[in-house]
Amino acid sequence: MSIQVAIDGPAGAGKSSVSKAVAAKLGFIYIDTGALYRTVALHAIRNGVSTSDVAVAELMKSADIKICYDDDGTQRIILNGEDVSEKIRTPKVSMGASDVAKIPRVRAGLLDLQRNLAKGANAVMDGRDIGTSILPDAAIKIFLTASVDARAKRRFDEYRQKGEPADLEAIKADIKKRDEQDMNRETAPLRQAEDAVLIDTSDMSFSQVVERIKSMIEKIL
Ligand code: DC
Repeated sequence: MSIQVAIDGPAGAGKSSVSKAVAAKLGFIYIDTGALYRTVALHAIRNGVSTSDVAVAELMKSADIKICYDDDGTQRIILNGEDVSEKIRTPKVSMGASDVAKIPRVRAGLLDLQRNLAKGANAVMDGRDIGTSILPDAAIKIFLTASVDARAKRRFDEYRQKGEPADLEAIKADIKKRDEQDMNRETAPLRQAEDAVLIDTSDMSFSQVVERIKSMIEKIL
């Protein structure tokens, strides 16, 4: 029987790096669902359609989105044959992803793709609605969060490490706006599933968070 782990939480809580590390340690696949919304947003921006326009749902039909993996387990995302894994990591696409994620038909259009990716596999899947909507029967559900200040500081450090310009206050404002949008949309808003374990990572190190989740999974292996 395969084991599915759902990790949800707000932007910048460390979901993707933690999920990826946990998956690698246990030999599970890692599925980053935010990348799907980001790719839809990139497709809209490239085609001159506003990311808030419901027309994005129609436009999505011309987007063939596929996921594949590097040898080290890094997820790559392919849009109409082009690897867009890096191009979806800009602030503009981040906000656009949060916009398109509000459109019910966009969410519906990505539902089967997400379920099929996890089907029959030992998988760690991260997102906003994995425990509540995509994988309601996941064996383990985690809601990973941290204070706005801690999340903004981590994003700031990430940009600095990549040598990209960063403004802490602007990052904080972006995170707050995305939280607001992600938590208050009508379809599948970001919220903790009733059976999810809450982990606040504000004062935890990366490896502490990874170990905590890994040991939860090992108990049911
Ligand atoms: O995890 P991320 O920052 O890459 O996600 C980008 C946006 O996509 C996020 O602001 C909300 C949306 N999203 C979603 O609505 N549901 C998911 N399962 C994953 C992401």
